[in-house]
Amino acid sequence: MKKILAIYGSPRRKGNTTLLLDHAVQGALDIGAQVEKIVLRDLRMSPCLEIYGCKETGRCVIQDDFQEVYDQLIACHGLMLASPIFFYTVSAHTKILMDRCQSLWVKKYWIDKVPYGQRNPNRKGLFISVGATKGKRLFDGALLTIKYFFDVSDMELWKALCYRELDFEGDVLKHSEYLREAYATGREFASALSVKKLGVDNS
Ligand SMILES: Cc1cc2nc3c(=O)[nH]c(=O)nc-3n(C[C@H](O)[C@H](O)[C@H](O)COP(=O)(O)O)c2cc1C
Repeated sequence: MKKILAIYGSPRRKGNTTLLLDHAVQGALDIGAQVEKIVLRDLRMSPCLEIYGCKETGRCVIQDDFQEVYDQLIACHGLMLASPIFFYTVSAHTKILMDRCQSLWVKKYWIDKVPYGQRNPNRKGLFISVGATKGKRLFDGALLTIKYFFDVSDMELWKALCYRELDFEGDVLKHSEYLREAYATGREFASALSVKKLGVDNS
């Protein structure tokens, strides 16, 4: 069974990225994938404290809701991550999660001594984002951040769905074509996942 983790990074419960991710999730469910959902705003998660307690085992030592997210993150075949653009990057909720995954970076490069730059993306990631404005470079910052976050999680950025000029809650409902695209992409994503190898070996 293909396991997908869907992470909602907006502070809004029914915001634009949430609605888009809901559609992608439905697409994946409709072709038989198993999907676990995590809503970051509901979690108690400290930012990274940069104490490098993870240096021993590769596991973050801060005992909060990140621990459960981490287990799900390393156990999934694919990750769907949705975040609005806040100041040209991902939301603070999303960034806190990413920074806590520095423990994955430590595991990979300091403990397992994988050579820098060596890629083994045996999993896939889908990124969904929206912003209010229409600037050409609106998603550049977030995409760079996402690329390296996926990289450290042994995932390739399989696809990014990025939509401009959506600001108020529910604005995306005026664009049924975006919602249809998210649904179709969710289906496609689930069928593209490989179940042969599971993500990061944290043994
Ligand atoms: C703190 C904050 C920062 C934002 N920064 C940007 C920005 O840099 N560029 C932009 O186009 N929109 C920006 N926006 C607008 C959001 O991206 C937009 O409202 C989006 O639709 C929110 O998505 P959501 O409903 O999924 O939360 C910002 C909104 C907030 C609250």
